[in-house]
Amino acid sequence: MKDFTYCTPTKLIFGKDSINKLPGVLRPLGKRVLLTYGGNSIKRIGLYDEVKRLLKDFEVYELGNIEPNPKYTTSVLGGVRICKEHDIDVVLAVGGGSVLDCSKAICAGALYDGEPWDLITYKVKAKKALPLVDVLTLAATGSEYDSGCVISRTETNDKVGYIDELLFPVASILDPCYTFSVPKKHTAAGAADAINHIIEQYFCKEHSSLADGMCEAAIKSLIKCAEICLREPENYEARGEFMVDCSLACNKILSIGNSPSGWPCHGIEHALSAYYDITHGEGLAIITPRWMRKILNENTLERFVSFGTHIFGIDSTLPEAEIAEKTIEETYKLFESFKIPMHLREVGIDEKRLGEMAHHIAVNEGLDRAWAPLSEKDILEILEASL
Ligand code: NZQ
Ligand code: ZN
Repeated sequence: MKDFTYCTPTKLIFGKDSINKLPGVLRPLGKRVLLTYGGNSIKRIGLYDEVKRLLKDFEVYELGNIEPNPKYTTSVLGGVRICKEHDIDVVLAVGGGSVLDCSKAICAGALYDGEPWDLITYKVKAKKALPLVDVLTLAATGSEYDSGCVISRTETNDKVGYIDELLFPVASILDPCYTFSVPKKHTAAGAADAINHIIEQYFCKEHSSLADGMCEAAIKSLIKCAEICLREPENYEARGEFMVDCSLACNKILSIGNSPSGWPCHGIEHALSAYYDITHGEGLAIITPRWMRKILNENTLERFVSFGTHIFGIDSTLPEAEIAEKTIEETYKLFESFKIPMHLREVGIDEKRLGEMAHHIAVNEGLDRAWAPLSEKDILEILEASL
């Protein structure tokens, strides 16, 4: 076990109709609320009207149209402006990871006098942030139970992760029913994202049997529930367990005491979605098996054997090298079984900018210091193998 300090101050409020607790959660935080959301999905499922009804005693301002892969210049700055103009007390994010992430950056930017990008890029440390409450509508990122957000700046092809304890939501309302309408594409991408979050924590140098067991249980639950959610989108039990899996998957609790891995697949994927605005979970599904192949060697072999035998039930009496090969194949087949496009070309990425992206990743993501280090050449080879 490595030394750690663990604290998650976020209250998870799970269950059907848990939305009714919203006024009680918001009341102690203030009266002026900035309600943030994405496109039309929350209106289509009646959630927008429900939230407005519950907030009738509050002073509500709105920021809609937050994009998937939320953008700094439009959404973050737009939200910060509203908060400053109207002296907002609390931000209420209703949506998926993109809405939550954008809202976290808004919470920090609202109480900072300078350019919020300085906070997001760690030039300046935020001293305070507005409180955030959220109603989650898409299980995937775990943003509802972590202190990170990922913000894109299209002009510079940047997509950066910003983590600060100030960004933990005060409370997250998790009603599986609000995820019934998530289309197959985003259910599958969400599953791939959460599974990859756990892979990023499992494939590391120092790990305990406790952490391994928690990670393996969560991945198995994600696989089982994803299959059911794709088949029966309104299955409450499966949507519910899947939601909680996703919340835990990015919160560090599953890998408590593990040494860091450097989150290499995320480092690579963030460039793909910064340059081509693709769906995060699809990018991860494409990259993960190619990354596995690149890092497989005698130092990493044990993790492949453990993952393959525990997750896929590969025969543990086979030679280790064979188990590792099968583990990579099974990982690929798993994402393919979710009907995720497994080649970059299928999501609109060709060879033209691979070199530029590999360079951007090598300069910005620190993957040469990852558990299984990657040079710029390695990153380029992973991208080429993903075409
Ligand atoms: O915009 P609307 O109309 O809401 O539609 C969204 C969007 O088109 C739709 N959707 C959401 N809830 C729905 C729904 N459609 C029907 N019914 C519902 N109930 O789904 C689409 C995708 O939404 P988005 O929020 O972009 O997806 P996701 O939750 O996967 O978030 C992705 C973003 O999170 C970042 C990613 O990089 C990406 O920018 N990440 C955040 C992390 C974190 N904060 O810890 C970690 C992750 O690794 C990830 O990087
Ligand atoms: Zn992710």
